[in-house]
Amino acid sequence: MTRVIRFGIIGCGLMGRELASAAARWLHLTDAKARPEIVAVCDTNEGLMDWFSTHLPSVRQKTTDYRVLLANPEVDAVYCAVPHVLHAELYPAILAAGKHLFGEKPFGMDATQSATIAAAIKARPDLLVRCSSEMPFYPGAQKVVDFIRKGHVGPVLEVEAAFLHSSDINPDKPINWKRMVGVNGDYGCMGDLGMHVLHVPLRLGWRPETVTASLVKRVTTRPDGKGNRVPCETWDNATITGTVRDPGGDFPLVLKTWRIAPGEANTWSIKVLGMKGSAFFTTKSPRQWQFMRYEPGGSQTWQTEDLGFAGLFPTITGGIFEFGFTDAIQQMWAAYVDELAGGDAKGFPCATPSEAADHHAVLTAALQAGITNSTVAVQYQGQA
Ligand SMILES: NC(=O)c1ccc[n+]([C@@H]2O[C@H](COP(=O)([O-])OP(=O)(O)OC[C@H]3O[C@@H](n4cnc5c(N)ncnc54)[C@H](O)[C@@H]3O)[C@@H](O)[C@H]2O)c1
Repeated sequence: MTRVIRFGIIGCGLMGRELASAAARWLHLTDAKARPEIVAVCDTNEGLMDWFSTHLPSVRQKTTDYRVLLANPEVDAVYCAVPHVLHAELYPAILAAGKHLFGEKPFGMDATQSATIAAAIKARPDLLVRCSSEMPFYPGAQKVVDFIRKGHVGPVLEVEAAFLHSSDINPDKPINWKRMVGVNGDYGCMGDLGMHVLHVPLRLGWRPETVTASLVKRVTTRPDGKGNRVPCETWDNATITGTVRDPGGDFPLVLKTWRIAPGEANTWSIKVLGMKGSAFFTTKSPRQWQFMRYEPGGSQTWQTEDLGFAGLFPTITGGIFEFGFTDAIQQMWAAYVDELAGGDAKGFPCATPSEAADHHAVLTAALQAGITNSTVAVQYQGQA
């Protein structure tokens, strides 16, 4: 019988609902070792919890106080999706209560908070902690990862990873916590989107040694929904260029986290260019990936392959169909649940605490580099 892992969800907003929906259609997965059952939900906004109890009969506890949820012995693991400033308070509390943690990125809003979370994780090696980052679970992204892992790229020329949004181009879009430095953090767009672009490079061992960064701030005030315009202080766009030391030759790692990329809606992409092979995937063409194999003197021909529905975790969906965001969320959660049940997440676990800490090191250096217009060395955890 499939093992049941009882989850609490803290933060019933945009992402809390996504994860709940993915759990509700777990029957989609054909060989899951375990399934999540949401037994408790928590949000300070009481009205948001009714949607959960209406749609998920398994929800037996609703509370506005996360401590009450954490005291619930029925809860084995917690998915936490709250504003960034709260991560450093809630994530350690979740672990101290003995619950496994699937936490939303960015694991704290700055390097200090990241270190607080890292210390709490270190104190509880018995608990499984992973950071949410679903885009690499697209089949096309997995193809790019596989291509690189198989050594098809040869000496790398450049790697570019991007996450592009555009709704902030509207200066009349009301402000929310993601545009407030005190809640989202000084990283601005980098804190929001940085884990998404760094997940694959860090997984492949591409840790930039130094970074430069171009930071852009265009919309300086926004409506507050009460008839006023209030300061909007977060960075809109960041283009980070890191230098990765590599035996095949140092190469640039370009990371774009843009909230104002005209015309783009949640476009995540990864491109690797190399002397022997190149590969590219973008969520704009969710069932395809592109690649090129090159032999000296041979032709340089990019190929496009339609992949259809081919997630890491097999599903009932026919292979000819198309993969999307909600599928990536479910595949990511399947990877976490698989690890909880003793599996290896099909060789691609969710982002790890050390990857989350490394991404903070890169973003901290990038923020300094952008503000001072200089090249900054990245200080990874454990380095002097
Ligand atoms: N993986 C992704 O693709 C993705 C996408 C968007 C957001 N996120 C991340 O998810 C997290 C939440 O973002 P969101 O878009 O869901 O935000 P949201 O504002 O829609 O939801 C956050 C919820 O947290 C609740 N909350 C605030 N303080 C609380 C507290 N003390 N206890 C319990 N609940 C509290 C709020 O009332 C709100 O409902 C952030 O870390 C964000 O970076 C991830």
